Amino acid sequence: MPKDENIEITSETIDVLNNRRSIRAFSDTAVTDAHIDAILGAAVRAPTSSNLQAYSVVVVRDAARKARLAELAGNQKHVITCPVFVAFCADLSRIEVALQRYGHDLEDNNLEMGLVSSIDAALVGMSAYVAADSLGIQGVMIGAMRNDPEAVAELLDLPPRAYVVFGMCLGFPDGNAPKQKPRMPRPGIVHLETYDHTASKAGIDVYNDQLRAHYETIGKETNTDSWTYEVDSKFAARPRNTLRAALKRLGLDFS
Ligand SMILES: Cc1cc2nc3c(=O)[nH]c(=O)nc-3n(C[C@H](O)[C@H](O)[C@H](O)COP(=O)(O)O)c2cc1C
Repeated sequence: MPKDENIEITSETIDVLNNRRSIRAFSDTAVTDAHIDAILGAAVRAPTSSNLQAYSVVVVRDAARKARLAELAGNQKHVITCPVFVAFCADLSRIEVALQRYGHDLEDNNLEMGLVSSIDAALVGMSAYVAADSLGIQGVMIGAMRNDPEAVAELLDLPPRAYVVFGMCLGFPDGNAPKQKPRMPRPGIVHLETYDHTASKAGIDVYNDQLRAHYETIGKETNTDSWTYEVDSKFAARPRNTLRAALKRLGLDFS
């Protein structure tokens, strides 16, 4: 039922998901190659559209490379301080190899191929995130890899027809877990049989109040319209307006 309380059933996985929050500060505890092998070994079991496996994952530990990625992500310091940074890429390069064997190619590939590969990358990324969390390794996803996708692709030496959909800072948390950010009221998001338009819209003002209260608790500056105002300030100006052209140059056509 789409209500926020009275959840009667749980499991270890549900507990991991219910306790999840983005972590941006890490301890000195090493994340070993064995950890990463276990995390990514499980993550690649994620479902993948038509078994295309149209993604690749690049694991970055090198300090200089992380520093450059941090710069490209708008100087996000957790990209430097995390022990491991993982880039989740949509990657159509192997799909093109398959097609070429039969005299075809991916010239003029369409929106569907871009979406399929980006969804694949997201599913593997989230699976990795949950697998990591189950080992006590947490972190934050970094969409700012799309600020300058061509520079990121060059830095990671990606093949044509690949781009980093998002990155992920991973590490053992420093112990000062941030308070969980509230979510929209469930009846506005989870619908029974058909979409409840009233509940969806009603949730917005309830959520503005909840997010404002959350920000006040953690001492973050906010206003009455916390969520709507934040969304407008970030998205009214059409961020990453050149992304479609950049992805096209990288060989993925989202037009
Ligand atoms: C695809 C994606 C990209 C994100 N990019 C960034 C980012 O560049 N920098 C950052 O600090 N957080 C980033 N985040 C984290 C979100 O800000 C965070 O998930 C959201 O505010 C909710 O907070 P919570 O994860 O703690 O619940 C990203 C999350 C997702 C799913």
